[in-house]
Amino acid sequence: MSTTTTTSDAHVIRTLRGMPASDGAGVKLTRVIGTPQLDMLDPFLMLDEFGTDRAEDYLAGFPDHPHRGFETVTYMLDGRMRHRDNHGNEGLLVPGSVQWMTAGRGLVHSEMPEQQEGRMRGFQLWVNLPASEKMGAPRYQEFAPDRIPVARPQAGVEVKVIAGVVDGTRGPIEQPATDPVYLDVSLAPQAAWEYLLPEGHNAFAYVFEGAATVGEGDDARALDTHALGVLGGGERFVVRAGGAGARLIVVAGRPLHEPVARYGPFVMNTREQVMQAFVDFQEGRF
Ligand code: CO
Repeated sequence: MSTTTTTSDAHVIRTLRGMPASDGAGVKLTRVIGTPQLDMLDPFLMLDEFGTDRAEDYLAGFPDHPHRGFETVTYMLDGRMRHRDNHGNEGLLVPGSVQWMTAGRGLVHSEMPEQQEGRMRGFQLWVNLPASEKMGAPRYQEFAPDRIPVARPQAGVEVKVIAGVVDGTRGPIEQPATDPVYLDVSLAPQAAWEYLLPEGHNAFAYVFEGAATVGEGDDARALDTHALGVLGGGERFVVRAGGAGARLIVVAGRPLHEPVARYGPFVMNTREQVMQAFVDFQEGRF
């Protein structure tokens, strides 16, 4: 009798591009997850990429709005954004900052640009919470750029570890509910990197600079700039940059396998809970 464990290869099971969207008071962005093409990738409910040099695309910002039942994760690449909530929390996100906000039972906050010109670029990811934690207390995990460790597993590969572990380098985010991985991977031209994703997680790679190939041999799939690859089939993730290098986020999380009832900024398990969220918000209980 023998016990062998084999690691199978993750490959791209689906490729797609985001669609133009407008949110907040008219901020232009690209919605990559949370669209008719890809409603969600459990536990990920939404992925927005924002990136523009035009102030008119972002100046309106995201004035006061509520959230309940999930987490919003903001990763700034360029620009400065100030957030404030109705519980007295306030902070400034600068290039390289991460804010992992657990909305729990609810808060009302604003996210407004703290600049009148220049480039604004980054991502917002929405991560679902299990039923048992949807009504928990709101919580922030917020980290300045120098608190995000960088792993350099080999020449030409640099990984900012926001969540998860790369070669012993552990990211600062703690979230046992979904055990997330969130990596910002920079690859020099033609550089390749291999990484083991947690077993059973749903995962995606999104290229935001240059181009890369995910998988090997017959399974290799090209992802050009602003392409999302949904990963499946295994844990061994292999990526190789094209001739101009590549930068991508690699994100994975344990699926919750729970019913999702969502309406705008409320993500619950049942329609009744969403209705209750509206009532609680209107009656000032956030
Ligand atoms: Co928000």
